[in-house]
Amino acid sequence: MTPRQRFVELTAQARAALETLAQNGYGQVELGTETRQCMATWGRAPAPARPETLEDIRFELGDCRRCKLSLGRKQIVFGEGAPDARLVFVGEGPGGDEDRQGRPFVGAAGQLLTKIIDAMHLDRERVYICNIIKCRPPGNRNPEPDEIKACLPFLHRQIAAIEPDFICALGSVAARILLGTDQPISRLRGRFHRFEGISVMPTFHPAFLLRNPDRKREVWEDVKQLIHAMGLE
Ligand code: URA
Repeated sequence: MTPRQRFVELTAQARAALETLAQNGYGQVELGTETRQCMATWGRAPAPARPETLEDIRFELGDCRRCKLSLGRKQIVFGEGAPDARLVFVGEGPGGDEDRQGRPFVGAAGQLLTKIIDAMHLDRERVYICNIIKCRPPGNRNPEPDEIKACLPFLHRQIAAIEPDFICALGSVAARILLGTDQPISRLRGRFHRFEGISVMPTFHPAFLLRNPDRKREVWEDVKQLIHAMGLE
């Protein structure tokens, strides 16, 4: 029996019961509080759904076991910063320091990211910082497709909750996954792309800059474009 058929059956039974009561001289039916409260809402438009918050998303993520990275991680690194940030930085995934502290970009690469944020006359509390995946891969290897698939919906929901105007994708994994392309970061960086109506500037990952300090100039060019587009000069 479909739910609709069951509903029709139940209402027919209810009508028959009420008719029997009426035939036996009962003019009124006593209804319980819950039934009356429920009937009061019949025919009314449902209350508009409350937009999802970062807390809702973190709650649903819980003690996530959706992929094998949960086996080796110490902590989930959800992300941190302003829930209404205009600019979101998206990295690849937590490293050892982040895994220990449960916070994104707190190791050596994170210190460089903090300097970049300072150079934009922003601070970490005014932006939002997160990653494509929320658990550290063993030996800091690249995330695997099944791990990204399990985790990415949460990042998408975080971005939808924050509604930023700009995203800075840090490194090739973040840029490729967000933009759905396999182009190299060297071709993606230096110009704005679109993700869900948001302007995305891909640039080199700070960890890459630590190994290749001569590439800082290119990152500064990308950051200057962000500064200009955000009206931060
Ligand atoms: N590298 C990343 O991509 N993310 C972090 O949080 C730290 C290092």
